[in-house]
Amino acid sequence: MLLKRLAFFGGKGGVGKSTLACATALRLSQEGKTLLVSIDPAHSISGIFGFPVGSQLKEVSKNLYAVELEGERLVEEYAKRVLEAISGLTPSVRRGLMAYAEYLRLSPTALETAMLDRLVDFIMEGYEYIMVDSAPTGQLIRLFKSLQAVRGWFELLRRVAKERQKVEAFMGREDRLLKIVEERRKRLEFLSEVLSKKGILFAVAREEPLSLEEASRLEKELKGYIEVRRVINCWRSMEGNFLKVEEVEKPYGLEGLKRIPAAGLVDAIKRYLDGRPDEYPHVSS
Ligand SMILES: Nc1ncnc2c1ncn2[C@@H]1O[C@H](COP(=O)(O)OP(=O)(O)OP(=O)(O)O)[C@@H](O)[C@H]1O
Ligand SMILES: [Mg+2]
Repeated sequence: MLLKRLAFFGGKGGVGKSTLACATALRLSQEGKTLLVSIDPAHSISGIFGFPVGSQLKEVSKNLYAVELEGERLVEEYAKRVLEAISGLTPSVRRGLMAYAEYLRLSPTALETAMLDRLVDFIMEGYEYIMVDSAPTGQLIRLFKSLQAVRGWFELLRRVAKERQKVEAFMGREDRLLKIVEERRKRLEFLSEVLSKKGILFAVAREEPLSLEEASRLEKELKGYIEVRRVINCWRSMEGNFLKVEEVEKPYGLEGLKRIPAAGLVDAIKRYLDGRPDEYPHVSS
């Protein structure tokens, strides 16, 4: 695995998550192969780059790839994968699991489960940096908490499948269910490990109380899942333990994004790699 950093951009609506995700990804693409993923249903990276990205992965510039994930399609693909995996099982188990796959599409965490699964693919595809632009706070909290819930669910499935295998072995039959469950479970464990070792969440805010409160809430809710750093975008005066990004004019388009002083965020990422996470780089124009 080549991945060095997996960063999420969260925070209140309109604080600059997408702009910073795009600017940071652009900067990091000078260092290594970088992927920018939008998981916000109201995608905006196409608009920011001035380039139609869409749900198929595209190369935006040298070393920079981007994709705007589409919820429904993602869930369909995930359910299809699960169905394919279980198609070789004995008919009685298959029937039960087919019903499960159908419920999976409609389940309240279907989207999060499918997104997490796709993230694992991306991590294994050989990017050095993956930047994730997300929807406002609620979605991100749900995504991380779903990971715990789905891990718990697979742990339970594993125990059931183990018991089943004993019975099947006694009857002289082979059972692939445990293997399938194990594969899925390992992917989730792998993702949790990547998040804790290489993940970073930038909780973006502006110099304004509501967005600052929301960034603090994100930090409080998610610091057990991932390293969280608060970022003040369009910084003018506030002091504190924030990464600071200054205001620029017309940040849209690749040229405009290059002017965004995302250096602080990129430095933060590099400092982590150098083992100096506690220094807060200060951005100046
Ligand atoms: N550093 C900056 N300097 C100048 N303008 C900025 C900066 N950061 C963001 N903006 C502007 O602020 C607006 C909101 O930014 P952006 O779309 O990145 O926010 P967001 O948090 O992704 O919003 P949403 O919650 O809708 O996804 C945009 O018009 C963007 O151009
Ligand atoms: Mg956005």
